[in-house]
Amino acid sequence: MSTADLFAAAPAPVRRDEPLCAGAVVLRGFALADEAPLLQALDAIVAQAPFRHLITPGGFRMSVGMTNAGPLGWVSDRRGYRYDPIDPYSDQPWPPMPPVFRQLAGAAAAHAGFAGFVPDACLVNRYEAGTRLSLHQDRDERDLGHPIVSVSLGIPAVFLFGGLQRSDRQLRVPLAHGDVVVWGGPARLRHHGVLPLKPNHHGVLGDCRINLTLRRAG
Ligand code: SIN
Ligand code: FE2
Repeated sequence: MSTADLFAAAPAPVRRDEPLCAGAVVLRGFALADEAPLLQALDAIVAQAPFRHLITPGGFRMSVGMTNAGPLGWVSDRRGYRYDPIDPYSDQPWPPMPPVFRQLAGAAAAHAGFAGFVPDACLVNRYEAGTRLSLHQDRDERDLGHPIVSVSLGIPAVFLFGGLQRSDRQLRVPLAHGDVVVWGGPARLRHHGVLPLKPNHHGVLGDCRINLTLRRAG
């Protein structure tokens, strides 16, 4: 078989847009074209700032492992939630924002109708089987005029996408490796979360899901 035949036989990556509501869209497969540089940059971040389980202001250990890249990192402890330029575990700045993260976030935001998005914070979440993220709003950022760009890698998860009121009913959105969700404008303060992950295996990332949440925080 020639090289051309091999490419012809490979299934085309799934690339389509699925609007969730005004201001929110799932960009299926949007990150797949950047898979290799994304994963390489992720390894460098985790080597410098390993995943850790933060403590909530209420004293609970979060089941999601977290780290950050960029000028600002999201942290939680007994004093509350905040963005900090310093990693409290190393007393050093967070690893720099990889150019591929910044470029992917800008392109995804622009594709969703939010031109000119330049993230200054990337929260990296690691989920294992059974790990969940309870329903919340992203509201620790200074200017809520900027959207959120969320990149899913590894094993699949079900993203809960609710309304402005906590009690509003939630969409259940399956997210797979390479999917990107963007929400901003009228959707910026919608509640969201992640259902407990089912055990699974991903060829590249193993038994976990990694989510990159890119924000303009400062
Ligand atoms: C988050 O809300 O910070 C992350 C959402 C996700 O993991 O998909
Ligand atoms: Fe969030």
